[in-house]
Amino acid sequence: MTATNDDIEKAVGVLRAGGLVALPTETVYGLGANAEDPAAVGRIFEVKGRPPSHPLIVHIADGEQLGDWVEEVPDTARVLAEAFWPGPLTLVLRRGRRVPLEATGGLETVAVRVPDHPVALALLSAFGGGVTAPSANRFGSVSPTTPQHVRAELGDAVDFVLDGGSCEVGVESTIVDVTSDVPSILRPGGVTAEDIEAVLGYPPAAPSAAPVRVPGQHPSHYAPRARVVLVEPEKVVAEAELAQELGHQVGVFLPAAFADTPVKAHAVVAVPASTAAYARELYGLLRAFDQRGCDLIIASLPAEEGLGAAIANRLRRAAGPRPSDADRATPAARPA
Ligand code: TXA
Ligand code: MG
Repeated sequence: MTATNDDIEKAVGVLRAGGLVALPTETVYGLGANAEDPAAVGRIFEVKGRPPSHPLIVHIADGEQLGDWVEEVPDTARVLAEAFWPGPLTLVLRRGRRVPLEATGGLETVAVRVPDHPVALALLSAFGGGVTAPSANRFGSVSPTTPQHVRAELGDAVDFVLDGGSCEVGVESTIVDVTSDVPSILRPGGVTAEDIEAVLGYPPAAPSAAPVRVPGQHPSHYAPRARVVLVEPEKVVAEAELAQELGHQVGVFLPAAFADTPVKAHAVVAVPASTAAYARELYGLLRAFDQRGCDLIIASLPAEEGLGAAIANRLRRAAGPRPSDADRATPAARPA
């Protein structure tokens, strides 16, 4: 059931008291705290088990407020904000004084966005300030796209969960660095590179392939418990059946071109025909494979155009080398 006005009021009270609120956005659910309360921001990192050097996104109610949170608003940022906000675009700009270093992982830049979800916007307007929110999952795992995902993963560690139903976009926002002359995409997401180029009149710089330039861009992220292996589309069926024969419990993302091919595997899902539907369902499908006891997921990459770029990025990261256990901070219990 979608959040009521009473729920919004309650959530505002939790934020004002330094607590954590899970909030729906059009991309994924966020784990929100008052951006200007360093202790509350610190709790986000504890609950997520996220290293404190990983910067967060500040969510605001209205693009008009952008200037309150950044040192200056360059023209390109203004143009992109007007074109895409509210929406799945995050702009990285020079940090304004209002933003504590705890929220930026110590960086002198800050990421800001206006989410396109009625419940998030109602919360942000009623609260009046900025809400820093990473995706509401444990560090490195799959982002939640329903309130049930949030509760299953974070349980009592979050003070209040605002219900906004299932997320429409399903993959995170596109992050664009607008601190230099040519905007560059740091993370592909819900707004496509093609959309950005159409607005700018020239292509944004591509995401850097350099290893971990920005904290939080580790190769393994968005990962289910099961190992994810990527193969060519025409090899998905054979690889899945081989692995199943070898004793794995295999989950299969069956490419659309092979939708009618029978597969002997533990769990088989046909890849949704449109990239919008695929993006919307991707994380839920990965979670479902875990729930059904799969230990191996075989998939192929979609064409990397439009939303396909974000889907491919998430699948690659899900398939990436896993951080060692030592690298994963233990989520601490919530202070009373
Ligand atoms: O759609 C989204 O963006 C969701 C919803 C909740 O808004 N949020 C989200 O947050 O995906 P998170 O924390 O899971 O990912 C934020 C990303 C991180 O990869 C981080 O590296 C990048 O934003 N980021 C944040 N601040 C940055 C900065 N100052 N410079 C470069 N990258 C930054
Ligand atoms: Mg995340």
